[in-house]
Amino acid sequence: MAKLVINETKKLGTVAPEIYGHFSEHLGRCIYEGLYVGENSDIPNVNGMRKDVVDALKEIQVPVLRWPGGCFADEYHWKDGIGEKSKRKKMVNTHWGGVTEDNSFGTHEYMELCKQLGCKTYVNGNLGSGTVQEMSEWVEYMTFDGESPMSNLRKENGSEKAWTVDYFGVGNENWGCGGNMTPEYYGNEYRRYQTYVRQYDDKKPIKKICCGANVDDYHWTEQVLKTCFDHAPEHLHGFMDLLSLHYYDMPFGWEPKVSATEFDEDVYYRTLKQAYRMEELVSRHSAIMDQYDPEKKIGMSVDEWGTWYKVEEGTNPGFLYQQNTVRDALVAGITLNIFNKHCDRVKLACIAQMINVLQSVILTDGEKMLRTPTYHVFHQYRHHQGAELLESSLSGTGSIGEGATCVPEITESVTEKDGVINITLCNLSMTDSKALDVQLAEDKDYEVVEAAVVGDCDPHNHNTFENPDLVVEKAFDGCKKVAGNKFTLNIPAASVVEIRLK
Ligand code: AHR
Repeated sequence: MAKLVINETKKLGTVAPEIYGHFSEHLGRCIYEGLYVGENSDIPNVNGMRKDVVDALKEIQVPVLRWPGGCFADEYHWKDGIGEKSKRKKMVNTHWGGVTEDNSFGTHEYMELCKQLGCKTYVNGNLGSGTVQEMSEWVEYMTFDGESPMSNLRKENGSEKAWTVDYFGVGNENWGCGGNMTPEYYGNEYRRYQTYVRQYDDKKPIKKICCGANVDDYHWTEQVLKTCFDHAPEHLHGFMDLLSLHYYDMPFGWEPKVSATEFDEDVYYRTLKQAYRMEELVSRHSAIMDQYDPEKKIGMSVDEWGTWYKVEEGTNPGFLYQQNTVRDALVAGITLNIFNKHCDRVKLACIAQMINVLQSVILTDGEKMLRTPTYHVFHQYRHHQGAELLESSLSGTGSIGEGATCVPEITESVTEKDGVINITLCNLSMTDSKALDVQLAEDKDYEVVEAAVVGDCDPHNHNTFENPDLVVEKAFDGCKKVAGNKFTLNIPAASVVEIRLK
């Protein structure tokens, strides 16, 4: 019999709320149409931000939002996106569909969006094609409250008070679209650029994010850290707060891309296997980080993760618009369980992307909006934000399949917050439910205070604008108490279950 043993007396660290972060890029219909429709739109909006979307996002408690890219960030010149909108410079979005970017969503609009969402800010700077001066002035524009050229310009543009920049990315994917650099070259550039990311407010220091590796490029991690920390004068210590990692779940690598909604058993398990690979990637990059930072002062920021399939038929291939099924809900559940378990190192993560691009939590079509299965998992898992990770382990569970399709039957993570124990479980089997006993350590009389399931249906199921609530988070009544600290449950096939005990 499969068993989950929880030792609620052993707390292993705090799950940073920012692990539940999101990524929004000037790509396809993520910013324009998805988040921002402009003040004059017929779609209900507050200062240009879609009201329905913001309201839905508030329900999942978005902790942080990364912007403006992605590859777009390393071609973005922030001064084009400030001031009177009709006078803003237009540019070609060369990376994403070659469309005209009118810069109507810029720094002020991003800050307004984060204010409405009540989330932290993560601005990604341009190291690939921008200058040190440009990056430095952007930071001054956003965060300096005194008398200075950039601060005065911000005031002229209507924002008297400086904003808080919680995180600042010093370049994006500089091994690729951000300049095709070698790790040694980037490491030196990081040292230089970050120097001018000034801290204007001691009480709200900006956390600087260094560009980390793509997938399993351990050489990049090793060499960037070596370059940054070897021969570094004492004052350089503490100049890097996080190191990023980007990993997309592509069942067959870059090609061929698979459909978001039509897949057979083989592709289903391949996709979940790729999701589970996050465990190995986080562990191995973290082990390299341990050599330079044994005290784990530098966090890992998995600031791009999610599934990447074929675009939906009839849509612009450069817009990366894809549907989202129960299979994606499982990818989300598996990945977030891994992040929870690695909360000693993973301090931030952003699903790519928030709306209408790749593994989105929301899709829109004109004035219509729907929540994807992935959204519902983020809603279930919101209880983990800021909670304490508890020691927990599974026994008596095996794996399904072999080789490229071999996955664990179940994955789990357990946290505690405000006296409530949050258990999240993924049953990866496409066909079979799984019986599980749960045993807690303390001799207490626990009760199930809340239980919910996403899935428990055909894993191909997805929400459409005609049927937006086919896959939702449903109450789960399959968890039964056997004794004060013992429970038993049956986890439905292809489902993500959350049980809360008090
Ligand atoms: O999320 C889409 C793209 O994937 C991002 O722009 C880039 O950083 C990554 O390669």
